[in-house]
Amino acid sequence: KKHIADVKDFSSEDPEVIEAFRIKYLGKKGLLNDFFKALKDVPKEEKRAFGQQVNELKIAASDKVQTLREGLQESRHRENLFGDLTRPGEPLELGARHPISIVRNRIIDIFSRIGFTVSEGPEIEDDWHNFTALNLPEYHPARDMQDTFFVQTDPDILLRTHTSSVQVRYMEEHKPPIRTISPGRVYRNEAISARSHCFFHQVEGLYIDKNVSFADLKQTLQYFTTALFGKSKIRLRPSYFPFTEPSAEVDVYWGLETETDYRMTKGTGWLEIMGCGMVDPNVLDNCGIDSSEYSGFAFGMGIDRIALLLYQISDIRLLSENDLRFLKQFKSVL
Ligand code: PHE
Repeated sequence: KKHIADVKDFSSEDPEVIEAFRIKYLGKKGLLNDFFKALKDVPKEEKRAFGQQVNELKIAASDKVQTLREGLQESRHRENLFGDLTRPGEPLELGARHPISIVRNRIIDIFSRIGFTVSEGPEIEDDWHNFTALNLPEYHPARDMQDTFFVQTDPDILLRTHTSSVQVRYMEEHKPPIRTISPGRVYRNEAISARSHCFFHQVEGLYIDKNVSFADLKQTLQYFTTALFGKSKIRLRPSYFPFTEPSAEVDVYWGLETETDYRMTKGTGWLEIMGCGMVDPNVLDNCGIDSSEYSGFAFGMGIDRIALLLYQISDIRLLSENDLRFLKQFKSVL
């Protein structure tokens, strides 16, 4: 019994000690063989009990040797994997997230908290999803609001000018209630300058259900601007979009505390950040949603300009030049 306890208590990570242990118990001249030999001299009535004990000792000893050997193998394996664990660490360069991604992720996060899903669609679009379904029939003058890149010479295939096209696709595939935002890259044939580029990024939002009102739109925008900018004073200016009626442009009151504020807001304190409106009933019907039953609102904003604002970046071109000196500055930001 004492031997069994000894065997169970034994432990070592030294291969030589483990081998000595094995020889002591399981070797040719080991204790176990002695016990087996002694068995024949044990009185008959004790034989059975003694035999059982010896067997138990044998099993305990061979189990122990096996587990200790496995342990050895594993630590050897670990050493091979990691090398010398006492070596000093090598500095690992951390990457940085792109400011567009940071802002897009924040916007997604803010809207997902009030139940909006994220939807995506193709950057190469057809006329229907980018224009016609959105109440912009051929020869509609408002098509000129967004100078379009066509793919080759086919006037039906183009680079999407806004992610409203994704909302058309979404409405064609889903029944209300709909709550979704569509982030993505869009293209417009505009002169490149510090303020605008021929491609940029948008997040557009769509909410459709029974009895959705302009008040719902306003409250949603209020929630959003407070969450993103920490500024809660907004105003809606009447505007025009072919796909919404009524339409408005949203300004955030940025204040006039610094010289930058002055410059950014042209001395008024107000900054335009997005377009919005109640989805035109024609658009709902075009996308297979009954406009006598449902109503909704939509909004759209440019991520790039918001990134310029939030990080006080002076030139939109910096966002696509991939200059490491610029990108590295966003290292600490998740
Ligand atoms: N699609 C518009 C644009 O790209 C933005 C917008 C979306 C306006 C939804 C109103 C409603 O400029």
